[in-house]
Amino acid sequence: MKPGLTISRVLPAPVEARAAEGFAARFLAQDGAFDAAAFLAALDGAAAALITPADRLDAAAIARIPATLRVLATFSVGTDHIDLDAAKSRGLAVVNTPDVLSFATAELALTLMLAAARRAGEGERIVRARAWPGWTPTYLLGTSLQGKTLGILGMGRIGQALARMAQGLSMRVVYHNRRRLPPEQEGGAAFIADEADFLSAADVLSIHLPGGAATLHWLNAARIARLKPGAIVVNTGRGTTIDDEALAAALASGHLGAAGLDVFPAEPAVPEVYLGLENVVLLPHLGSATRETRTAMGMLALDGIEEVLAGRSPANLVA
Ligand code: DGY
Repeated sequence: MKPGLTISRVLPAPVEARAAEGFAARFLAQDGAFDAAAFLAALDGAAAALITPADRLDAAAIARIPATLRVLATFSVGTDHIDLDAAKSRGLAVVNTPDVLSFATAELALTLMLAAARRAGEGERIVRARAWPGWTPTYLLGTSLQGKTLGILGMGRIGQALARMAQGLSMRVVYHNRRRLPPEQEGGAAFIADEADFLSAADVLSIHLPGGAATLHWLNAARIARLKPGAIVVNTGRGTTIDDEALAAALASGHLGAAGLDVFPAEPAVPEVYLGLENVVLLPHLGSATRETRTAMGMLALDGIEEVLAGRSPANLVA
């Protein structure tokens, strides 16, 4: 008999086809806000479940998961929407989707860097409003990235991919991390151990931190004050890592030049403080949103589920 698998959201078609083939799959196809009660009810008899970063499972929800469930997969590398301690004490294996989304997410960080530096959001809004006065030598001038310093905060796989891309733009790349990486993983980026030195070196700061209590409001007013006047901030990690009031104030005062944000603390809500600012590019959490990447993420999640159900310990086992 095929093991039961409950899937919270619509997934790319090849992933759904594989799930239907290998499992007694129950597709909830939830849209919009996560309905935890409906999800938990649909776990009845299931050995596995597949959720997304938009589906929050706190300790109370995990306590209500039926005993038949052995593995919970998340369609994400991030796991801050799952209470991992509760999953562990319940004996529930958790698998995620690392690596396969690194390049796509780095591409999106690069997109935001370029869009913020070159005022692409403002320009697009002007064109759509039919308000473009025409070409002049001083119209909508941005900042060149060539020769500037990119500071990568959090040099995991996404940060490493971004470091390689940015060097293709003739940027100098520095990084700050809990520990220095082996030289072969640094990809030409220079480690700066001292946080204050790192912040004051960056013309562009790209944040690649996980969510959770340890990184809450990491970018606060004190750290923003250490950034160079005119610096650009990009975030493709988790929205909770930024104090939005402080960042918006620095963008409004002109201390910071621009920002590019793909993630927000309570998605899909976007903090109101940004909506009136021209110098911030806002995207709806598109980091891994390519057809190729989302299919690869789904396949990796299913691989992890199959491995756990076969009694093995997959490389993407989180807890
Ligand atoms: C993740 O995988 O954690 C991303 O945020 C989803 O794109």
